[in-house]
Amino acid sequence: MSQFKGSSYASALATLHTLCFVDPWSEDNFRNILNLPTTFGIGDEKGFILYSDLGDDLEILTIAVHPDYRRKGIATNLIKELQNFAQKNQKGKIFLEVNVKNTPAVQLYLKNGFIQSGIRKNYYHEKGQTFDALCFYWQQKNSA
Ligand SMILES: CC(C)(COP(=O)(O)OP(=O)(O)OC[C@H]1O[C@@H](n2cnc3c(N)ncnc32)[C@H](O)[C@@H]1OP(=O)(O)O)[C@@H](O)C(=O)NCCC(=O)NCCS
Repeated sequence: MSQFKGSSYASALATLHTLCFVDPWSEDNFRNILNLPTTFGIGDEKGFILYSDLGDDLEILTIAVHPDYRRKGIATNLIKELQNFAQKNQKGKIFLEVNVKNTPAVQLYLKNGFIQSGIRKNYYHEKGQTFDALCFYWQQKNSA
């Protein structure tokens, strides 16, 4: 899995996102997000994670694995790589939000040491329905 930066992967990431989400981000969305100086990615055509470098901490913006390659540990490897990066670069915490109904993702985060810290009511809007977001964080063992 390789690290990437910049908007040259916007089209490929949007295509993969479309296979993975009910409300995927468009190519333009990806281009804008990837062009932010704080946005970085890890992954390849099978799966990727985008994160924001907040300085002292990191935030996962999105993670997606191609439906043909699921349950093979790809998302776990992406998260572990991000956790290793955090450890090597003194990033104390990794934050994220996940839709309460997204059981695969919630299980993925729990299995990888994330802790639930709160709920944002009616955070997601999908086809006229609203869903709460669960807020999770992962913290380095030696971080306050
Ligand atoms: C969530 C997602 C990224 C997981 O990717 P993956 O590569 O299949 O995940 P892994 O193989 O690393 O699975 C790790 C663990 O997550 C949990 N998990 C993954 N898929 C699951 C599912 N369908 N049902 C229940 N638990 C699941 C399991 O605990 C799994 O461990 P196990 O296989 O030993 O039981 C993938 O399903 C996906 O792209 N979903 C659509 C996009 C999405 O919802 N992204 C998250 C937004 S916050």
